[in-house]
Amino acid sequence: MAIRMMQFSAFYFVIGVLMGMGMSMAENYELTPVHVHLNLLGWVSMALGGILYHLFPQAAESRLGKWHFWLHVIGIPLMMVGLAVVILMGDAAEAFGIVIPVGGTLIVNGLGYLLIFGGTQRSLEIRS
Ligand code: HEM
Ligand code: HEM
Repeated sequence: MAIRMMQFSAFYFVIGVLMGMGMSMAENYELTPVHVHLNLLGWVSMALGGILYHLFPQAAESRLGKWHFWLHVIGIPLMMVGLAVVILMGDAAEAFGIVIPVGGTLIVNGLGYLLIFGGTQRSLEIRS
């Protein structure tokens, strides 16, 4: 799972950076929030998760770790597509806006599990 997260992270890095370059070249910064979160939730947070799960393999095996992985993986495309559609289509896509909080909530939940596991893991280590 750690490796899989790092692969996703590298994928989002490429997309996020290409998007940043595209925005600079087009001098159109409308989609900055998508660029920001592709980089910070896709590249940075996924890479951190991958490193943590590599350092603490027990975390990757835990149920919380698996929930985190899947919520993070599913949440990012939902949140990014939702953000992009709402920014580009404005009022016409208002109803679609629900996808953003749904995706965001999945990611926040997932990251929460990662943090909860971090605490559990620490207490395991202290005990041993
Ligand atoms: C070659 C790579 C990149 C390019 C060309 C690029 C380009 C841009 C551009 C054009 C903006 C909009 C600036 C504006 O609105 O004035 C921006 C904003 C931003 N980028 Fe990137 N970016 C790159 C990589 C990254 C990476 C790797 C991260 C994070 C790990 C990142 C995080 C951000 C953030 C947080 C903002 C918002 C800044 C703010 O709110 O003032 N960018 N980037
Ligand atoms: C699921 C988690 C997250 C959600 C739902 C979320 C949501 C948002 C929203 C609604 C905005 C305002 C966008 C706008 O003004 O158009 C925003 C901006 C921003 N967020 Fe997040 N965020 C999340 C995670 C993060 C994380 C983890 C980071 C950094 C590590 C981050 C960094 C930023 C930055 C730098 C901006 C300013 C972007 C700009 O200048 O356009 N966000 N976020």
